[in-house]
Amino acid sequence: MSNGLITAAYIIAAILFILSLAGLSKQETARNGNKFGIIGMAIALIATIVSLNVQSIVYILVAMLLGGLIGVRLALKVEMTEMPELVAILHSFVGLAAVLVGYNSFIRIYTDAHSYANGAILNIELTEIFLGVLIGAVTFTGSVVAFGKLHGLINSKAISLPGKNKLNLFALLASIVLMFLFIHAGGSLLYLAIMTAIALVFGWHLVASIGGADMPVVISMLNSYSGWAAAAAGFMLSNDLLIVTGALVGSSGAILSYIMCKAMNRSFISVIAGGFGNAGVSVGDSEEKGEYREMIPEEVAEILKQSSSVIITPGYGMAVAQAQYPVAEITKKLRDMGIKVRFAIHPVAGRLPGHMNVLLAEAKVPYDIVLEMDEINDDFPETDTVLVIGANDTVNPSAQENPSSPIAGMPVLEVWKAHNVIVLKRSMRTGYAGVQNPLFFKDNTYMCFGDAKATVQAILNSI
Ligand code: TAP
Repeated sequence: MSNGLITAAYIIAAILFILSLAGLSKQETARNGNKFGIIGMAIALIATIVSLNVQSIVYILVAMLLGGLIGVRLALKVEMTEMPELVAILHSFVGLAAVLVGYNSFIRIYTDAHSYANGAILNIELTEIFLGVLIGAVTFTGSVVAFGKLHGLINSKAISLPGKNKLNLFALLASIVLMFLFIHAGGSLLYLAIMTAIALVFGWHLVASIGGADMPVVISMLNSYSGWAAAAAGFMLSNDLLIVTGALVGSSGAILSYIMCKAMNRSFISVIAGGFGNAGVSVGDSEEKGEYREMIPEEVAEILKQSSSVIITPGYGMAVAQAQYPVAEITKKLRDMGIKVRFAIHPVAGRLPGHMNVLLAEAKVPYDIVLEMDEINDDFPETDTVLVIGANDTVNPSAQENPSSPIAGMPVLEVWKAHNVIVLKRSMRTGYAGVQNPLFFKDNTYMCFGDAKATVQAILNSI
């Protein structure tokens, strides 16, 4: 294939990726967005393979077939609730790939150094290699720790080493010094290896020092890092499309992280600097406080039927229990009775951005009654009944009332202001952030224990 054709294919793929991102930003167009992404990636892969100067593409095809088979199997098997883990581990692959490409490029230059007549070009290539390996290594261990925390293999609480900010600063300064030494030496495996070790520890520490409640931001931040790692690999491989794609992923991940930080009232810099400034926040209290009252599904059905307005606030528990289908049926039944039913969606409800919206859309709940937190938070005082289904941290009043709570300052759905609040969950256990919820002990709150799907089904039957 001529260079002109390959460039044209790359431009078309880049445009399709941009259209894909635009499509993915709205639920209604998300399917088309996915299609654009798939077509763009197919074009990109074909153009890249035919542009390669290789003797045999058999190795590439075998590797792609194996990778594709593993990918399809994982995608079919993974539960919606495990999506963040999958994304985290995939990010780690991008980081590892950038490190390997970096070392490979270094070996190529090192064994071929005499052919670089122009020292400036050599310096630029060495800088690309150094930065690529640095970002890749941070992304790799950071993503592995994020995977471990989300999968429950590592404790989700933030670790706080003494002088952790100084450690981070030291890692950054040491890397800068090593970069100058590396370039000055015309490329040195020793400096590259020392920096890689520092970057691997830095990535681990960065994510390990972020607490469970801030994990959503970490995932999108690592998404951004993996984009920059891919862009760096694109520079090393002189592949324009990889640079463009990496930059798209890098910047969209950074924008998403910023939006999520704003939604959770967190400082962007503080989160990306590995929980900088969190030193004074306590780890929170997971003990039960006070008495709570229970209700059985038949009583819940009665309260719902007597209400004129109902707000449903779903969370992670609805997703695990796959309760969205009976929830959609209850919604339809109540609406048919003339009761105003709406959904209140917290920006980090569940385990990934937009998690609840996707589940409710899947169960055919009309879009127009699914409202974002800002659109509905003022309506709770005029609401008769709130049904909290498998949500916990996102409806925790401590965020507003307890300045030493790990979720202090995070905006929450003010469900406790409604006349009646009914919480559907299995026990009095804490949510993801590991803090107890005073909502459960308020006078207007009733607990309805059991698996969300079974409880919602029982309520539906009673209605
Ligand atoms: P959580 O605070 O995690 O609470 C979910 C609750 O659901 C738990 O307390 C659990 O209580 C209950 N539950 C679990 N399985 C259930 C089942 N089968 N049936 C009924 N209840 C069940 O969830 P949330 O309110 O959605 O808040 C989200 C949390 O996850 C936040 O802390 C957020 O920062 C974090 N997070 C979010 C994201 C994104 S981007 N959305 C990503 C990673 C982490 P029981 O065990 O007593 O049943």
